[in-house]
Amino acid sequence: MVRSAYSLSGRHGALAGALALATLLGCERAPSPDQATEWTPADHDRVEEKGKKQGPRTTDQVPQGKGDALVELVWMNQCAVCHGAEGHGDGPNGPMTGAADLSKLDLTDAAIASALQNGKGRMPKFDQIPPEIVKGLTQKIRGFRAK
Ligand code: HEC
Repeated sequence: MVRSAYSLSGRHGALAGALALATLLGCERAPSPDQATEWTPADHDRVEEKGKKQGPRTTDQVPQGKGDALVELVWMNQCAVCHGAEGHGDGPNGPMTGAADLSKLDLTDAAIASALQNGKGRMPKFDQIPPEIVKGLTQKIRGFRAK
């Protein structure tokens, strides 16, 4: 994990930022740190390969799959500890903080962005998350509603 975040530098600065964020802010009780270390370096290699063929890459050119993986990583590291893997508010710290069951809420984009930007109740703010990850988290939260 540390090695992969470290090696993502330069033109992958934004990705490195997101990964570093996930690492640095990672709760001590991240549900599956082992899983994260397993797939992150592999993902990194894939991007590295494509990057060589296509030249410098900006964050909005991050392939869909890579973005999804980062969103999953951020969700599992930053959010699931309270909201639970499926957003039901049943993470280890869910009961203690009164984390919302996101599958029961009909939230606007603005409400989700505001919760992240400012925090809400016992939820701390997460104002360092890059916009494209916030977008992915918003889609993920929407997805909980169907379940
Ligand atoms: C420390 C526990 C905790 C963590 C970590 C946490 N939340 Fe929350 N979250 C809460 C609590 C508690 C609420 C309910 C706040 C309230 O309504 O008083 C909440 C509410 C929300 C809401 C609903 C806001 C609304 O307007 O009702 C969203 C969306 C949300 N969280 C998303 C996230 C996302 C995305 C992450 C990860 C980046 C995250 N949360 C991490 C505790 C947490």
